[in-house]
Amino acid sequence: RAIFRPFPSAAPVSPSSGRTKISVIGAGNVGMAIAQTILTQDLADALALVDANAEKLRGEMLDLQHAAAFLPRTHIAASTDYSVTAGSDLCIITAGARQIAGESRLDLVQRNLALFREIVPPLARYSPESIILVVSNPVDVLTYIAWKLSGFPPNRVIGSGTNLDSSRFRSLLAEHLEVNAQDVQAYMVGEHGDSSVALWSSISVGGVPLLGSLEKHQIAYEQEVLERIRRAVVESAYEVIRLKGYTSWAIGYSVASLARSLLRDQRRIHPVSLLAAGGALLPGVPPDRYVFISLPALLGRAGVLGVASVHLTDEEVRRLHASADTLWEIQQQLGL
Ligand code: NAI
Ligand code: LAC
Repeated sequence: RAIFRPFPSAAPVSPSSGRTKISVIGAGNVGMAIAQTILTQDLADALALVDANAEKLRGEMLDLQHAAAFLPRTHIAASTDYSVTAGSDLCIITAGARQIAGESRLDLVQRNLALFREIVPPLARYSPESIILVVSNPVDVLTYIAWKLSGFPPNRVIGSGTNLDSSRFRSLLAEHLEVNAQDVQAYMVGEHGDSSVALWSSISVGGVPLLGSLEKHQIAYEQEVLERIRRAVVESAYEVIRLKGYTSWAIGYSVASLARSLLRDQRRIHPVSLLAAGGALLPGVPPDRYVFISLPALLGRAGVLGVASVHLTDEEVRRLHASADTLWEIQQQLGL
């Protein structure tokens, strides 16, 4: 049990009716990639879509409904009215402005804060027992905002965080090592963004710790290769945005993996954005400092069940603190 640190207020969730309902707020590139993956992976009995653009929303709903002959039976509804989300087990928020070439995720905070003030209160009102999963950027700050605006306990407010960065890290490592990415375990933690932190000591391939293996065989050149891979992970979103205008498929699969772990109570470990309240989870952070950053978390039907006690080097702790400071400074300007 020492593997995990307990996470506050993992209150039991009232047993659902047995039917699973997911709401996706924002029927854009990301929201529809998530919706499509939820349907193909049969993750819900009911799917509700919400968007501010009624025409686009109806079009997306009809287009998905027309695929019914090829999909597990799922009730699909859509409305600009949040009552369509009532009784959701999981509310996934993808609505919001996305960065254009040259913008950072953090540049979006004011625009998307205004949207969250509209979106979060009705979601919480119609589904008071749900888990809120934030995807919109900047995801760590917006997850903090969703926590404040929803009044939900922290175990039920999660950001997709570096689950996506870690999958990019694993795919690039797998390509370099010429193995299947599913046999590469590796975490990026901290901010989902420019200051994300690669946990080098967490990398293992088929259960073999990578760094230990490199040191044992004195393969020094790999360090430079690994650093180049880390930089490529941080740059990857900017590259895809430059090439196709946005990112969608990888985040779609990333969020579907989180939805499965949460709603099917899989008790799997994912690096997600969670309330790393002062000190308990991140040594040295002042106790009054409430920031959401990604750490490897045990996820199940009650949301965040615990946080893995991963080994952090002094340099990794320093970089995580820098991430937390950046996010805290932005949060201070929000007036929440
Ligand atoms: P998009 O522009 O394709 O879709 C955004 C949707 O939000 C639009 O359909 C728009 O009508 C809707 N919307 C705007 N205001 C709304 C409101 N008040 N209520 C309901 N819906 C509203 O953008 P895209 O590409 O889907 O990206 C969405 C967000 O997801 C962006 O913030 C983007 O940065 C973020 N993102 C996050 C990732 C992550 O790893 N956390 C990865 C990829 C994107
Ligand atoms: C990404 C950005 C858009 O990582 O958050 O894809």
